[in-house]
Amino acid sequence: MDKYTLLNGVRIPVIGFGTWQTPGDKTGTDAVVTALQAGYRHIDTAQGYRNEQMVGEALKISGVRREEVFITSKLDNPMHGYDNTMSSFEETLKKLDTDYVDLFLIHWPNPLQYRSSWQRTNAETWKAFEELYEAGKIKAIGISNFRQHHIDELMKSAKIPPMVNQIRLCPGETQRELVKYCRQRDMLLEAYSPLGTGRIFTVEQMKALSVKYNKTIAQICIRWSLQNGWLPLPKSVTAARIRENLDVFDFELSKDDADLIAGLTGCVGLSMDPDKTNW
Ligand SMILES: NC(=O)c1ccc[n+]([C@@H]2O[C@H](COP(=O)([O-])OP(=O)(O)OC[C@H]3O[C@@H](n4cnc5c(N)ncnc54)[C@H](OP(=O)(O)O)[C@@H]3O)[C@@H](O)[C@H]2O)c1
Repeated sequence: MDKYTLLNGVRIPVIGFGTWQTPGDKTGTDAVVTALQAGYRHIDTAQGYRNEQMVGEALKISGVRREEVFITSKLDNPMHGYDNTMSSFEETLKKLDTDYVDLFLIHWPNPLQYRSSWQRTNAETWKAFEELYEAGKIKAIGISNFRQHHIDELMKSAKIPPMVNQIRLCPGETQRELVKYCRQRDMLLEAYSPLGTGRIFTVEQMKALSVKYNKTIAQICIRWSLQNGWLPLPKSVTAARIRENLDVFDFELSKDDADLIAGLTGCVGLSMDPDKTNW
């Protein structure tokens, strides 16, 4: 699979396998093993998904070597701050049964628990990220759900800039200003919920495009994400869909059709304001 190159030279496969809501049991293991056997080489997990251990086990079962797979995890909301980051990152390594993570992200910029002090807390968290990065335990560091003001605040004390921002990017949600801002800072955009968490499949315009291109709606979404220069993270626990979602390299959407998809504002809902979430 093709790769993007991050700010620090680290190479990252252009499609990642999403695992939010993928259970930590055999259903999950089967899904991740199927994905690895189908050719995915990039798995997106998080402390908050409670399935890091399953991902580690699936990697072993698959027989694919650790060095061949790009693994992302994310810091859980209650674990912000320097000491919490350090201790919970060690837990992540144990659960994944590895001695490094390819990419580690601050999952949310402003958890409820730290709402009165998110600026200082993120600065302390990022210091821990930088130390783990410099120690070689994390190959690339980044953020998720950060908006411009969160990034600006982080950059006041950061020595190393974030290399990735993972945000909700899907049909009808292109976050143009934020994407432009991240690009100016050489951050790669990872597109979470590229299928609108499964809500895209009833959208009439997408059904018409599926007929026109003779590709499934999921394939059109993933292709569109790639054509935007983003890194889509489709999730599935269904073997045929897992394979289907990788078969996106033999067609190209026209500019008009790409614009049409971008313009389906709100067709699968819009992202939450990270300063107002209740977690
Ligand atoms: N950083 C964050 O805050 C954040 C937030 C949300 C998501 N993410 C990441 O982004 C990933 C993807 O987002 P998401 O989980 O919201 O969902 P998604 O990938 O947009 O959609 C997944 C849903 O679509 C279904 N599906 C997948 N492929 C399909 C296909 N080819 N045909 C028909 N249905 C299909 C899946 O069903 P089955 O599984 O039943 O097959 C599931 O219900 C997450 O798993 C996670 O890794 C990150």
